[in-house]
Amino acid sequence: MSVKKITVVGAGHVGATCSQLLAQKELAREVILVDIADGIPQGKGLDQWESAPIEGCDSRVYGVNDYEKCAGSEIFIITAGIARKPGMSRDDLLKINAGVITSVCKEIKRVAPESIVIMVTNPLDVMAQVALETTGFPRERVIGMAGVLDTARYRSFIALELDVSIEDIQALVLGGHGDTMVPLASYTSVSGIPLSQLLSQDRIDALVERTRKGGGEIVAYLKTGSAYYAPAAAAVQMAEAIVKDKKRILPCAAWLQGEYGMKDLYLGVPCQLGEGGLQRILEVELSAEETAALEYSAEHVRSTVAALKALQ
Ligand code: APR
Repeated sequence: MSVKKITVVGAGHVGATCSQLLAQKELAREVILVDIADGIPQGKGLDQWESAPIEGCDSRVYGVNDYEKCAGSEIFIITAGIARKPGMSRDDLLKINAGVITSVCKEIKRVAPESIVIMVTNPLDVMAQVALETTGFPRERVIGMAGVLDTARYRSFIALELDVSIEDIQALVLGGHGDTMVPLASYTSVSGIPLSQLLSQDRIDALVERTRKGGGEIVAYLKTGSAYYAPAAAAVQMAEAIVKDKKRILPCAAWLQGEYGMKDLYLGVPCQLGEGGLQRILEVELSAEETAALEYSAEHVRSTVAALKALQ
């Protein structure tokens, strides 16, 4: 068992999938699922615990409505929020989710001031900033989940296209989550073989485009919700790297302080995750085109932060 306690905030699709994965991987002695909805975390938590004898895992899963049981959690994975509903503008959603994240983070600061926060709620880069500001935690302990999901989607499409194992595909994407992500073609390889030797530029471009729109592709199928299996797996992989001090290099949203020539914003960059959270940001060489794409992505994050500040 890696740590004593990990809390997942939000017992919806992403959150409940996270808690189940955390328990099945036995990443913590206790996995706490917290949500404001009456009965939902309790019911899902109990259901998951009842699967433990079959799965053979001893992580205790508890579902709760308040934060007392979360005291002392080493990690919080935040998935709480609402999805955009018909008639609701992006600004409305931004304001509501910022309010949710602020209230959640005040509780986290109160019950677990030494914890590490992994932000999943969208718009991810902006919600991570709200968490950083509300908790007052150092940047090492507030990290956003974006790049692990985007690279997983990219790698899954490459594996299908080439009909090779997903285990052999390495890829790196930078930038904001989703539409403005910056896939680095020169850092994508199949067992060390550059992707450009295996696929034409046209095919690579098509896979990149599908990755950028990967979230939308799932929403179009589901109609009433968004992706959750892959987002949850991505957040749990980050938690695993931290609790096992694996020092994995994963693309995550980190609070930049001069890296890549940028300051005071969350953006997806290669991060080393291990004990304590973010251990290091790696700066890789970028082409002029990639630098411009990263700057465009940063501008998008900055304008969303500005829109939120104007609403508050
Ligand atoms: N505290 C705790 N839980 C909350 C709060 C709050 N203040 N406000 C809302 N929630 C809960 C809801 O009750 C709901 O159970 O957050 C949960 C959200 O679950 P879903 O609606 O199923 O959303 P989900 O698909 O899990 O996505 C959650 O992750 O990937 C992102 O874009 C996605 O921002 C979204 C988030």
